[in-house]
Amino acid sequence: MNPETPLTFRHYHLLGIEDLETSEILTILETADSMAEISRRDIKKVPTLRGKTVVNLFFEPSTRTRSSFELAAKRLSADIINFSLSASSVVKGETLKDTVRNLEAMAIDALVVRHSSSGAPHYIASFCRSHVINAGDGTHEHPTQALLDAYTIKQYKKRIKGLKVVIVGDILHSRVARSNLFLLRKLGAEVVLCGPPTLLPLEFSKLGAKIEFNLDKALVGADVVMMLRLQRERQKANYFPSIREYRQLYCLTQERFKLAKKDAIIMHPGPINRGIEIDSALADSVQSVILRQVENGVAIRMAVLYLLLGGKERESSD
Ligand code: CP
Repeated sequence: MNPETPLTFRHYHLLGIEDLETSEILTILETADSMAEISRRDIKKVPTLRGKTVVNLFFEPSTRTRSSFELAAKRLSADIINFSLSASSVVKGETLKDTVRNLEAMAIDALVVRHSSSGAPHYIASFCRSHVINAGDGTHEHPTQALLDAYTIKQYKKRIKGLKVVIVGDILHSRVARSNLFLLRKLGAEVVLCGPPTLLPLEFSKLGAKIEFNLDKALVGADVVMMLRLQRERQKANYFPSIREYRQLYCLTQERFKLAKKDAIIMHPGPINRGIEIDSALADSVQSVILRQVENGVAIRMAVLYLLLGGKERESSD
């Protein structure tokens, strides 16, 4: 951290990017630099959050987010428990509120919440005293994903302002797209959303995005190409005729990627449907920064836990 820069982070919870000031986003990104340094040490642990307890409360599957929050907490010496939905009393009918209240009775400090319902972390934050971190709620937001994406873009491009970022795929169901749109617009990037008209509501233009249904046109001059997973589990209708046709029109192929800038980078939040959203070879190519995104997820989540639980007095507004 630069000692000259005052850290500003006034929120008690991290529920979304939409509510954050630009200065708060910059604080998280800057704090992540110090946290990344800890992960490069032989002994990847500091005592900063010793005595704090974090609960990973995931009602949906996760590989990257859950593991990286666990590693982040452990590297800061916090205790963390992973709530297992299938082994919990939720299967016996316990409500979300009762589940949270009972976990809180065990003197926890933070809840990292993933839920299929948009707004579930906000609901939890409305009655609990622990810090709540949104790890993905329905089709609404996935704030730490957008933060780690911005951190990764900055590593490769040294800036965000003025970059052309093209986000491609199932925009309608993507909390990653929404959080990225909020964050990248706050930091001054041009954001182009691209996908089939059925999966790309025009309302997104009101949030500052440019809309383009033709992938070849969208890719011209792109600095960053972010491919999204088809969220089949959230699709309640047939949004496109077949996977084959989706692939034909919206899969990032080697040929298509040549339309972007020569030094463009390829991103994907994961998990990838290889050969549907992106050609497998391209996902593993030198232009792909997908695994760097995963690596940076630990630093960003350490930064978020540190800023929320670090013990500093702060004026909380939510
Ligand atoms: N990007 C992301 O949220 O991945 P997981 O679902 O594996 O956490």
